[in-house]
Amino acid sequence: MTSDGSPTPEGESGLSTPVGSRRRFFQWVTGGLAGLIGLGLAIPLFGYVISPALKRRVRPWVDVGSVGDIPPGEPRQLDHITTIQDGYLESRSHKAIWAVKRPDGQIKVFSPMCTHLGCGYRWETGEKTFKCPCHGSVFDIDGQVLSGPAPRPLDLLPSKIENGRLLVVFKEFKSGTAQVVEL
Ligand code: FES
Repeated sequence: MTSDGSPTPEGESGLSTPVGSRRRFFQWVTGGLAGLIGLGLAIPLFGYVISPALKRRVRPWVDVGSVGDIPPGEPRQLDHITTIQDGYLESRSHKAIWAVKRPDGQIKVFSPMCTHLGCGYRWETGEKTFKCPCHGSVFDIDGQVLSGPAPRPLDLLPSKIENGRLLVVFKEFKSGTAQVVEL
């Protein structure tokens, strides 16, 4: 004990008493246990509270219709509702895609937005081209640019066929660039 009444610092006398060693041991054990409990609480907390906010936008496969309803060589615009999970936020929105069935039965799915500045385009049956009304870009049935200011072909969307249904992942891309940049 010091003159002001506080305990003598351990080891000041050059000796560590058995009682002091035991106390320090229990302090270490208690501290270690508290750390483990804290870690045990922090990991689930991170998983449930923080981790969803850090996740990239999740876009699901969406059923856009029967493959049998798409005639070969005649692109079809198919509307659907897509649900996007973005961290904690879930939003549903009405989207469209263009589906093209080739003579061999293969299906390509295009984003409905022109790669120039993002306008919606349409299929011209007589001319067998996609035409954008905004600045006149023209694309062939495979999405390749035939004329106009579009800097790249139409953007392809992931698609697959399951049980005769066409499934698509709706994505958006930056317009006006030669490279495909997903948003
Ligand atoms: Fe389509 Fe400009 S937005 S040509």
